[in-house]
Amino acid sequence: MKSLSRAVWIPALIVAVLVLAGGAWWSMAGSTKSGGLGIGGPFSLTSGAGRTVTDRDLRGKFLLVYFGYTFCPDVCPTTLTQVAGALDRLGKRGDRVQPVFITVDPQRDTPQVVADYAAAFSPRILGLTGTPEQIAAVTRAYRVYYAAGKPDGSGSYSVDHSSILYLMGPDGDFIAPIRADAPAEQMATDIAKHLE
Ligand code: NI
Repeated sequence: MKSLSRAVWIPALIVAVLVLAGGAWWSMAGSTKSGGLGIGGPFSLTSGAGRTVTDRDLRGKFLLVYFGYTFCPDVCPTTLTQVAGALDRLGKRGDRVQPVFITVDPQRDTPQVVADYAAAFSPRILGLTGTPEQIAAVTRAYRVYYAAGKPDGSGSYSVDHSSILYLMGPDGDFIAPIRADAPAEQMATDIAKHLE
């Protein structure tokens, strides 16, 4: 009796494992197809005009997404300077590229502050902020690392953050990372490769 029931449940177990593995493979294949490497996704943020901007509002354009903060002493200003230079070099070819600067410091970077900061490098760069929860969600979606340091005596603090430019397609899918520490000329070449 015991061996008979075992003869039933062992094959049943094997079938169950195969079905689960097949399902996992299928869902992985599905997500890879629809969302690049799983980078990016829906977001809801705020522009300088206080207007809500979502990922859907930006569909139809290639997005060049960068995360940083306006008090950043070196990496962010350098990167945004090169992005502005890359846009100049792309000229007409870059018309469909919308650079987006998203702050990882929503406490200090109000909509107006982040918009003015981004526009100072190029009026083409869209500066966005949000609630701490919205920023946490969008950084999670883009797998961005950021961590605020301890405030000094005057209350100012730095924010450690990853520095990658994400090129997203007109459908919102991740296309490729673009080196953020490259000079403008190289950045323009790297972006242009993906624009066809
Ligand atoms: Ni920075």
